[in-house]
Amino acid sequence: MPQELAYTPPAGHHFLTPLYDVGVRLSTREMLWRAALVDLIAPEDSDVLLDIGAGTGSLAPILAKRNPATQYIGVDPDAAALAIARNKASARGIRAEFIHAPFSAEAIAAWPAPSVATLCLVLHQVPLAEKLRLLLEIHQVLQPDGKLYIADYGEQRSWLMRKLFGATIQKLDGYADTQPNADGVLIPLMIEAGFSEVSERRQFNTITGSISILSGTKEAF
Ligand SMILES: C[S@@+](CC[C@H](N)C(=O)[O-])C[C@H]1O[C@@H](n2cnc3c(N)ncnc32)[C@H](O)[C@@H]1O
Repeated sequence: MPQELAYTPPAGHHFLTPLYDVGVRLSTREMLWRAALVDLIAPEDSDVLLDIGAGTGSLAPILAKRNPATQYIGVDPDAAALAIARNKASARGIRAEFIHAPFSAEAIAAWPAPSVATLCLVLHQVPLAEKLRLLLEIHQVLQPDGKLYIADYGEQRSWLMRKLFGATIQKLDGYADTQPNADGVLIPLMIEAGFSEVSERRQFNTITGSISILSGTKEAF
């Protein structure tokens, strides 16, 4: 890995990584929000999709099922998660590339510029300054008119969602990185990073808090 970075592993602790997929499936209504995300992306043959914090690569098979011609590139600093992602892709016979690195413009410089970027369940696990850095560098690398889709724990609007989020995800991933999401920081940060047409497209209440799908566009000029 070219650059060292302190990061939270997929399930909060390295020893829990093998349990990540089953945990997400059971606790987030995963198939609903991932399918809704891919519906919104509506991947085209010419699209290059960069999945930042790809983790165990769960988005790749759903995307490939929708459009096998879309080029999928995942980037993640966690070697154990990427090993699961590569096995998953090869078991399903799908084309997916994975880069072992924390995301930065430099880390993907040798790859085609993405027309679509996704950040699934990543931003609630990183510090506020890193949330903004990721969004700024995504804006930098996207093609003109490129789209960013975020699927993550966003603003927790009801008492019940705040309680469930506090009792589960905030226990696992800590308060400092997660609370800004719960307070609704994602949309203002996307705007600060330069995205236009920023909006919340869908919201899913789950037993671990509510998950929002947000999108934004990099203007063509
Ligand atoms: C909760 S997991 C989500 C994995 C996957 N996107 C999903 O939807 O299941 C968050 C991932 O973000 C990765 N991550 C953390 N910091 C990162 C960074 N700076 N650049 C890229 N990935 C990062 C972690 O290694 C972890 O695999």
